[in-house]
Amino acid sequence: MTYILPKLPRIAYGADYNPEQWPRDVWREDVRLMQEAGVNLVSVGIFSWAALQPAPDRFTPEWLDEVMDLLHAHGIAVNLATATASPPAWLIKARPEILPVTAAGTRLGHGARQHYAPWSLAYREHAAVLVRFLAKRYGRHPALVSWHINNEYCCHTKESFDAFTAARWRTWLRERHGDIESVNKVWNTAFWSQRYADFDEISVPALSPTILNPGMMLDWRRFCSDAFVDLVRMEANILRAETPNIPVNTNFVGWHDLPWINHRAIAAELDYVSWDSYPDPGEGLDAVQANALCHDFMRSLKPGRPFVLMEQAPSAVNWRTVNVPRAPGVTRAYTHQSIARGADGALYFQWRQSAAGAEQFHSAMVPVTGLRVGGHENRVWQTTRELGRELARLEPVAGSTSPAHVALLVDYESIWATEHDSKPTRMDVRREIARLHRPLWRRNVPVDIRHPEDDLTGYSVLIAPALALLSPRAATNLRNFVSRGGHLLFTPFSAVFDHTTRIAGDGVPGGLTDLFGYAVEEWWPAAPGCAGRVDGEIGEFTWANFAELGYATTAEVLASFADDWFAGRPALTRRSHKGGGSAWYLAAHLEPAGMDAVVAKLLSHAGVSGLADTPEGVEVTRRISESGLQFLHIINHTGTAANVALPGLKGRDLITEADVSETLRLPARDVAVVALG
Ligand code: GAL
Repeated sequence: MTYILPKLPRIAYGADYNPEQWPRDVWREDVRLMQEAGVNLVSVGIFSWAALQPAPDRFTPEWLDEVMDLLHAHGIAVNLATATASPPAWLIKARPEILPVTAAGTRLGHGARQHYAPWSLAYREHAAVLVRFLAKRYGRHPALVSWHINNEYCCHTKESFDAFTAARWRTWLRERHGDIESVNKVWNTAFWSQRYADFDEISVPALSPTILNPGMMLDWRRFCSDAFVDLVRMEANILRAETPNIPVNTNFVGWHDLPWINHRAIAAELDYVSWDSYPDPGEGLDAVQANALCHDFMRSLKPGRPFVLMEQAPSAVNWRTVNVPRAPGVTRAYTHQSIARGADGALYFQWRQSAAGAEQFHSAMVPVTGLRVGGHENRVWQTTRELGRELARLEPVAGSTSPAHVALLVDYESIWATEHDSKPTRMDVRREIARLHRPLWRRNVPVDIRHPEDDLTGYSVLIAPALALLSPRAATNLRNFVSRGGHLLFTPFSAVFDHTTRIAGDGVPGGLTDLFGYAVEEWWPAAPGCAGRVDGEIGEFTWANFAELGYATTAEVLASFADDWFAGRPALTRRSHKGGGSAWYLAAHLEPAGMDAVVAKLLSHAGVSGLADTPEGVEVTRRISESGLQFLHIINHTGTAANVALPGLKGRDLITEADVSETLRLPARDVAVVALG
C-alpha cells in the first residue's frame, strides 16, 4: 500500500496547533487531551516566524524543541510548518519593500498576515534562511512526518504592483516570449495603439481607464501564479536537500483561489496534496455538493493518490458576515465526506481556540468556553473526541484510491482568460463546473477533474464546462479520446480561443468543428431575467444566461431551441464516430433539470452508471485498496432518515461493526463505511 505519510500509515486526525499562544502548563493539558481525542497529527509553527526568529540574527527555537519532544512522547506526529506565512515586524521594518502594493498604488501594512509581495526577493531571501534553519534543526526529529510549506498561498495576497515585481514581470515576459515583437504579436498590440518598442516600456497592469489587453492579462495571471510555484519550489528544494524522505506539502485554499493559482503546477512540486475546506453551513446541500466537487478537484491533482483535508472548522468560522455554526452531525458528515472522496487525513483549524487575536471567535477542537459547560460536555469537544475514535476504525481505508471513469475537463489558463472583462457576458466558469458536477454527484458517479492535455486513458466520459481556451495539443488529445471510443461533451463557450486569447480562425469550437459536426455562428447572452426554451429527446427545458446559435453539419440534433428566430437551431447535438466514440455539443445554459437530463443521456449512451440510486443529499462513494478491498462510504447529509438500496451489497460497517446487505437505513446526518466482501 502506498501511504502519503509513510510514517503515519492510517487516517490522520488532528489540527493546526499554535502552542506559542499559550503558557507551558497548557501544552501539557493539550497533549493529554489530544490523546483522549485520538489526535495523531498536528501542524505546528504555521505562524511562528516571530517566535522562532525574534531578530535578524537571533533564533529562539527552544520552545519548539520542547513542543516537538512533548508531542512525540505522547505519540503525536508533527506536520512541521516552515513558518514563512507571516513575516515578522522587524523584517518589515528593515525591508519595507516586502509589503505588497495594490493596483491603486497603495502599499499595505503589517498587523494582519500574508503581507508580502509574492515575488519579493527580500522576502524570499529571509524565508529561505528560516526554512534552512528549521530543516536542519528538526529534519531528524522523530516526531516529524511531513513538512507544511507556508500556508494557503494567495488566500489574501494574490498580486502586487510594486517596483520590484514590475521589473520581475518584464524579465518574466522576456523569458517567455524572447523578443518584444513576439509580445506585440501575442498581445495583438496593433489594437488601441498598444505597441511596445522595448520591454522597458511595459508596466504592470495597475488601475486603468478601461478594459486591459486580454493577452496581457492572461500573461499577468500566469506570472502571478508562477510566483507561488516558484516560492513552493524554493522551499521544497531546501527541505528535500536536508530530508529527502519527509513528504513535502502546502495547503490549498480549495478552488476559491482558482482564478489566481495553478494548483496543478504547484502539485507537481509536492509529495501530496492538501486543502482547507470551509463550506458555509447556511448554504445547505449546495455547499455539500461544492465541497464534494472540491475534494474531487484536489484529489485529481495527484491521480491515484490520497490527499489530506488539512483544515476545516469544527463549527463556526469568524470571517463571514454571518458565521453560522455547524449543527450537530454536520462536522462528522463533512469529515467522512473527505475520507469518502479520497482523503487519508482530516484535520481542523485549530486545536485550541485562541482567547485573543483575530480568530478568537473561530471554533476549535478545544472550545474557548470550556470542555464542560453547566454540567454538560461541550458539544464541539464531544464531537472532537468521538470522531477521533471513529476514524481510528477506518485504518484499513488508508492508502486506498478512488477510481473514476468520468472526468470534468478544467484548465486554469482557460478560466483566467474567460473571466476577463471583455466577453459576450460575465462568465463564471466555476459555476458552470459546479452545474455539470451536480448531476454526477447526485447519481453517485465517481468523477475526476483533469486537464485537457492530461493522459486521459481509462476515462469513458469527458465533460468540458466552458473550456474556452483550448491548445492544439489539447484538441488533438480530445480527438484521440473520441477515436478510441470515448464520449466527449462540450458546453457553451468551449474552444473559443487559443493560449494567446486569439479567437479560432477556422470556426468554433476551434479546430474541432469536424469532430462535433457542429459550428457556432453567434454568441447569445440573454438579458437578465429572460429565458427561452429548448425541446427534444431530453425533454423540454428553459435556458437562461447564455446560448450559442450554430448549425449542425454532420451531427444529429438531439434538442433544438424552440422560440422566435432561434426556433429549430440546434441546442444539443451528437456526432457519432467510428469505434463507438461520440462528440456532443450543448449550446445553452439549461435550467438544472435540463443539465441533469443532458448528463443522464450522455452517461446512459456511454453505459456509465452511478454507484447507487439515492435521494439527493445522500452520497455513496467507493475507495479501492491495492489488494482489491472495496470500501463504500454512505453519508446522509440531510435532516431526515434515508433508505439506501445497494443491490448485491454484502459487507461490514467499519464504524458499527454491523453486517450490511442490500439495503441500509441511515438516520439523519449519519454515516456508514462498508468494507465489502
Ligand atoms: C484558513 C487559514 C487558517 C485559519 C482558518 C480560519 O484560511 O489557513 O490559518 O485562518 O482559515 O478559518
